[in-house]
Amino acid sequence: MVAAAAVAAPVLLAITWGAEGRTLTWVTLAAAAGGVVGAGVQGFRAARRLKHRLQEVGRFAAALAAGNLGHRLQPESADEIGDLEEQLNEMADRLAEAMAALRELGEKNRALAYEAGALAERTRLARDLHDTVNQELFSLALLVAAARRRLEQGDVAGLGGELKEAEAMARHAHSTIRALILQLRPPDLAQQGLAAALREYVASFAARHGLEATCRAEVPPLPAPVEEALFRMAQEALSNVAKHAQASKVVVELGVQDGQVRLVVRDNGRGFDPDAPLRPTALGLTGLRERAAALGGRAVIRSRPGAGTEVTVQVPVPREDGEPGPGARVANAGAPAGAPGDGAVPAPGEMPGPEAREGASGVGAHPGADRR
Ligand SMILES: Nc1ncnc2c1ncn2[C@@H]1O[C@H](COP(=O)(O)OP(=O)(O)O)[C@@H](O)[C@H]1O
Ligand SMILES: [Mg+2]
Repeated sequence: MVAAAAVAAPVLLAITWGAEGRTLTWVTLAAAAGGVVGAGVQGFRAARRLKHRLQEVGRFAAALAAGNLGHRLQPESADEIGDLEEQLNEMADRLAEAMAALRELGEKNRALAYEAGALAERTRLARDLHDTVNQELFSLALLVAAARRRLEQGDVAGLGGELKEAEAMARHAHSTIRALILQLRPPDLAQQGLAAALREYVASFAARHGLEATCRAEVPPLPAPVEEALFRMAQEALSNVAKHAQASKVVVELGVQDGQVRLVVRDNGRGFDPDAPLRPTALGLTGLRERAAALGGRAVIRSRPGAGTEVTVQVPVPREDGEPGPGARVANAGAPAGAPGDGAVPAPGEMPGPEAREGASGVGAHPGADRR
């Protein structure tokens, strides 16, 4: 209507100019000016509303980008901005669905990683049994058979040596079995607490393998599955020290730092190249990384030939309600933890020299020295 007045004004002005006199002309001019001002005010209001709606859209898009999917826009009119608002609402719905699916997938991955870790552990124990007790019992049977033959031939004098050897072998098999049972038996973490159970385990490990071991462990009570997993990871790292490192010293540290539980197992043994491809049957370190990832954390293996090995596991301290802590991430989203390119294993050049590491831990051992 204001626009119509603005158009009509010059026409009226033309009609009235000259003939009807000046009064009418001024009235017409005033009406025209009023029309123009009115149109301007309305245009300004419309522009302000437009700006406000666009600002709303902008804020909504920023909230979506920040992962806040709880709000929706209220489209006011069926114009282009209304369409945009509808589309953004739809996008937010889809995004919320995708996030829920991703969360579900994360849960499934966590469960799978845990199962894979348990399977790897069973495989390792089966191999340990095969490589140790199995061989020893077979040799024992051969020795006893030889002794029996000797006895049948009446060669009693030569019997002593064979029986002595058989006795030593039986004793060794017995102690190996005991060590394996200790590994298999679930530690009484609930009663002892993780720190005390770990200290005890490290002491018995050191005695069993003739190593010098230091264990500094202090952690608040954690949910049972987290304590169990941390204990198993320490066991795996220690079993690697016994099997591969030829070390004389090992340091185990367990503590909480910046909202993270941190477990370190460090040896002064022969080290290895963690970037080299693993045997397909070597599942210990893979299982260890998977366990850490299942807890929303990660495991880093630092080593290089001749310079010892350091395994560091870091997992977020779980909240009271058992959920992973603030540092948790979706485990194994995309690639499995520890897969090439995830940065879990630093380049060998990044590893601190053994002197620096051992100085810090207070062990003060020198690679190549002592026991070996
Ligand atoms: N502490 C260590 N010292 C030296 N080598 C190690 C150590 N830990 C692991 N390794 C090397 O890494 C390989 C992979 O270890 P792992 O995945 O536990 O498999 P496994 O113990 O069954 O061989 C080992 O075969 C060994 O060569
Ligand atoms: Mg291993």
